[in-house]
Amino acid sequence: MMTKQYGILAYPAKHSLSPVVQNAAFSYLNIDAQFGVFEIPENEFAAFMEQVRNDPISGLSVSSPYKEVIMNYMNEIDEDAKKIGAVNTVVNRGGFLYGYNTDFIGAVKALKDVLVTHSAYATCVRDKKFVIIGAGGAARAVTYGILKESGIVEIYNRTSSKAKELADYFGKMFGKNILSGDLKDMMATSGDALIQTSSIWITEPGSVIENLFPKDFVKKFKVVMDIVYKPLITPVLAAAKDYGITAISGDKMFLYQAQEQFKLWTGKEAPREVMEDTLNKILV
Ligand code: ATR
Repeated sequence: MMTKQYGILAYPAKHSLSPVVQNAAFSYLNIDAQFGVFEIPENEFAAFMEQVRNDPISGLSVSSPYKEVIMNYMNEIDEDAKKIGAVNTVVNRGGFLYGYNTDFIGAVKALKDVLVTHSAYATCVRDKKFVIIGAGGAARAVTYGILKESGIVEIYNRTSSKAKELADYFGKMFGKNILSGDLKDMMATSGDALIQTSSIWITEPGSVIENLFPKDFVKKFKVVMDIVYKPLITPVLAAAKDYGITAISGDKMFLYQAQEQFKLWTGKEAPREVMEDTLNKILV
């Protein structure tokens, strides 16, 4: 048997955490597989997808900017991924490409880890109120995950029209009226958890919390989560910690979504501790 090939597909892709974590899992379970980096520019994307099918590459973790466009290359797309409108995981079954989304599962599991202290695991998201910052691809997965668990969602974004678009789309899907607005409108609300999904820390490094909202706004929440993991303690999480509010860093969602990917590719339960320990060693 040939060593199976997997990899992260993104542009840029060099700083992805996936290879280290997935290779640690393969190695721990003695699986003859290798997880690489496919840093593919957009003009080579179509040719690359042909290669995935024929060469073959057994599975992909998909990141920016390809989560949406890759859907056009799938033979079949899982129901959740279809509804979210994004695929972050590809499984190649004999030349047939299957698309999934594990981001929404990762977000929900990261939240449940802390919410479960207040109620049962199965229902700890239900009827809780989640205030989401951002209306991009990441926000779509997080919103869907929470709504699927019967949580209440509000969406706020720098550009309010995009927040409204997302609120209308998922509101219709789940038969709910979802509130939305810009970051100023957000000042009037409160909730159980605040979830930062915008790319501000990545696209504008050195940004401070005041670029999003006044620091003491976090006091209106019991839990604050940021899905960005670089830096691990974002300005929003630092503020939460200052006030003694439970903070969930982006590595949690990343790990959970990576474990779901591993399971989709190998059919085996992911070695969670091995993946977590590996991640903790490389994250600062
Ligand atoms: P992702 O897939 O990571 O969600 P995206 O789809 O490009 O990335 O979306 C980026 C999100 O971060 C958007 O909601 C964006 O707000 P706009 O819709 O107004 O562009 C938000 N964002 C990026 N930079 C931001 C900043 N400096 N302040 C506030 N929001 C920002």
